[in-house]
Amino acid sequence: MDSSHILLAGSTVTAVGFGVLYGLLVYWSPDPLVTRESEKKYRSHKFQTSPKPLHTLSEPSTVDLTVVIPAFNETERLPLMLSQAIDHLTTKAHHSFEILIVDDGSTDRTTSASLKLATKYSNCDIKVVTLEKNVGKGGAVRHGMLYASGERMLMVDADGASRFDDLELLWAEMDRIAPENAPGVCVGSRAHLVKTDAVVKRSLLRNILMYGLHTILRIVGVGHIRDTQCGFKLFSRAAARQLFPLQRLPTWIFDVELLLLAKMLAIPVAEVPIDWHEVPGSKLNVLTASLQMLRDLLVIRANLVLGRWSVKPKTD
Ligand SMILES: *[C@@H]1O[C@H](CO)[C@@H](O)[C@H](O)[C@H]1NC(C)=O
Repeated sequence: MDSSHILLAGSTVTAVGFGVLYGLLVYWSPDPLVTRESEKKYRSHKFQTSPKPLHTLSEPSTVDLTVVIPAFNETERLPLMLSQAIDHLTTKAHHSFEILIVDDGSTDRTTSASLKLATKYSNCDIKVVTLEKNVGKGGAVRHGMLYASGERMLMVDADGASRFDDLELLWAEMDRIAPENAPGVCVGSRAHLVKTDAVVKRSLLRNILMYGLHTILRIVGVGHIRDTQCGFKLFSRAAARQLFPLQRLPTWIFDVELLLLAKMLAIPVAEVPIDWHEVPGSKLNVLTASLQMLRDLLVIRANLVLGRWSVKPKTD
C-alpha cells in the first residue's frame, strides 16, 4: 500500500465516522414540539367542562405575574405547594397574578385534582391545561410560558422544594437587571448551600454527578451559571418571547438550553440565592438521568454549532 492508499483509507474512515456521528445527532435530536388544538385551551373554576382559549405570548400582558407549574402525577404534592404560593401571593405580595398548571399527560388525575384546587381557591385565577401526551418537564414549562398572560413568568416545581416567598428576591433582582419590561431572566440558585447540611445529606453518587454536570456545563458554555437546575426561575415577558419559541428540549435538562439561548441572545441572566430543601420522592433515576443529560447537552451544542438549530427568533 503506498501513501495515497493510506490517505484514501484514512479519509474514508473519517468520513464514515462523521456520517455516523451526524446520523446519531439527527436521531437523538428531539422532534419539534407540537401543540394540539385541545392544548390551546384551559379549564378553570368557572369553566370546568367548556374549555376557554388561552392567552398567547405574542399578545400584551394582562397581569403582573403568571406562575407556571409543570405537573406530572402531582396530585399528592400540588395541594401544599399551591397553598404556599397562594398564601404568599394573596397576603404578602402585591402582584396581580394567574396560576397556570400544566398537566403533562399525567395518569393519576392531576387535572381533576387541579380543578378541585381551583374551586377551593375560587377567588384566584387558576387555569389548568392538560397535555394529551406526556412530553417531559421542559415541554410542559415551555407550553405554560407560550400561553402565559403575565408581564413576568415564574416557573416553579410542584414539589414545593423552594420557599415561595423567595419570589420577591427574584422580583427585586429583575427590577434591577431588566427595568421597564426589558428582557431578563432571574434564576433561583442553591449554589450558596453547597457546603451546608442540605447538600451534604445528599448521596455521594448525587454529589459526584453534580460535579460531573458542572464540568460538562463549562464545556457546553453555561459554566458562568452556578446552579442551572433550580426549579425556580423568573422570566420577563420580553425574554420569554425570545426564548421559549426557540426551545427544543422537552426533557428535564431544558434549563441549560434556555440559559445557553439567553447567552447567545445577550439576554441578561442573574443568579439569586434562595432557600431550598430536598424533598423526598424525586422522580429522577440519577444514573439514567445523567446519561440522558449528557446526550442532550451534546445534542444542543452540536445542533447550535452546526447551525441545524438557529437562534434567530422566528417572525411567523
Ligand atoms: C402515574 O400515576 C399512575 C396512577 O397512580 C401510575 O399508574 C403511574 O405508574 C404513574 N407514572 C409514573 C411515571 O410515575
